[in-house]
Amino acid sequence: MAKNKPEGYLTAKESRKISKENRRITNQFEKQRKRKNVPESEYTTTMHNADNAVEFDDLHTYFFTDAGTVKSVDGVSFEVPIGKTVGVVGESGCGKSVTSLSLMQLIQRPQGQIVEGEIRLNLGDGKAYNIAKTPNEKMMKLRGNYVSMIFQEPMTSLNPVFRIGEQVDEVISLHDEEGKSKEAIKEKTIELLKMVGIANSEGVYQMYPHELSGGMRQRVMIAMALACSPRIIIADEPTTALDVTIQAQILDLLRHLKDKINSSIMLITHDLGVIAEMADYVVVMYAGRVVEKGTVREIFSNPCHPYTIGLMASKPVVGKQVDRLYSIPGKVPNPVNMPDYCYYKDRCEMCVERCTGEYPGEISLSPTHKVSCYRFYDGKGEK
Ligand SMILES: Nc1ncnc2c1ncn2[C@@H]1O[C@H](COP(=O)(O)OP(=O)(O)O)[C@@H](O)[C@H]1O
Ligand code: SF4
Ligand SMILES: [Mg+2]
Repeated sequence: MAKNKPEGYLTAKESRKISKENRRITNQFEKQRKRKNVPESEYTTTMHNADNAVEFDDLHTYFFTDAGTVKSVDGVSFEVPIGKTVGVVGESGCGKSVTSLSLMQLIQRPQGQIVEGEIRLNLGDGKAYNIAKTPNEKMMKLRGNYVSMIFQEPMTSLNPVFRIGEQVDEVISLHDEEGKSKEAIKEKTIELLKMVGIANSEGVYQMYPHELSGGMRQRVMIAMALACSPRIIIADEPTTALDVTIQAQILDLLRHLKDKINSSIMLITHDLGVIAEMADYVVVMYAGRVVEKGTVREIFSNPCHPYTIGLMASKPVVGKQVDRLYSIPGKVPNPVNMPDYCYYKDRCEMCVERCTGEYPGEISLSPTHKVSCYRFYDGKGEK
């Protein structure tokens, strides 16, 4: 690893050594992944709780880069119950998107790899797959039909040279296995566009993405994501690029549609206001780990991890006048060289004596409320 000349500096020789080692590791993963006719028993699993749509269990997703191994997701566990919305919140770069991309198996390979842990996806009737081990040909069937994703910036996800209608048609024809006629597909597309609140859906069918506003494009993205009634919808910062009134409309729409097709939502955002409005459960991530999780009530009325408390303090409150909004001091540690103590310690304003010890394990404050922080190690909840 890097000798500490100027901080983070690597000589060409060191960098070559790292990339050689990276190739060796990623080739092993890729070899495993590229096998043909993998028996289903290798990736079937059982849900720990049949009421969950997805269970992340000790997920580790790393990127093997020339500057070192980026531990983007480093032991993340949480579940998404059927019919519920789980909000995943945290600063930029803390691993929210990598967690959700792991569930879609859309991590940038070969450098990005799930190196450890399980992601159990409930397929119904007692059947479940471990996504970490599911081969690509099976994944193609799961994407869209079981798990679907709405991205942050619809303009980059829609193809600018095809009409909206063609793009939604394509999703339906790829995933619907009934061998529908062209007319039937077009009819379904128009029905979907209506369902997401596009009034002039026949007109929009003929339009190109640049002819639509940001809000309309996001509606089209939602229509595409919901085309095959997936069991779980991942919405990664779905409203960040939109203005506030449109944001409220899109969130309303999402909530309404989720109930209509009885799916679950994994809602990723850095906006606590969105979480408060939409989520049933909250997962707070920091530097690739879950630091606190609980029901929305538990997290908002009794935030326990100093990071969660900091996030709450840094959001504006209507009717409360402050000179300056609070901002959490310091920055997220370098993901290549994580410390061996609590990752939040260098920014924490509530340290106790034990904080110099190893990374704190998870403490249960209630059956649903968990926190990883030494402030709660008073003997009774300690692992
Ligand atoms: N393709 C990649 N190659 C290397 N590092 C990556 C890649 N994608 C994400 N990362 C790193 O993983 C960490 C988590 O990223 P991300 O999940 O996108 O954060 P978030 O969505 O919470 O803002 C970041 O440190 C980021 O730099
Ligand atoms: S374990 Fe200590 S340093 Fe880490 S968040 Fe809790 S109080 Fe702060
Ligand atoms: Mg992200």
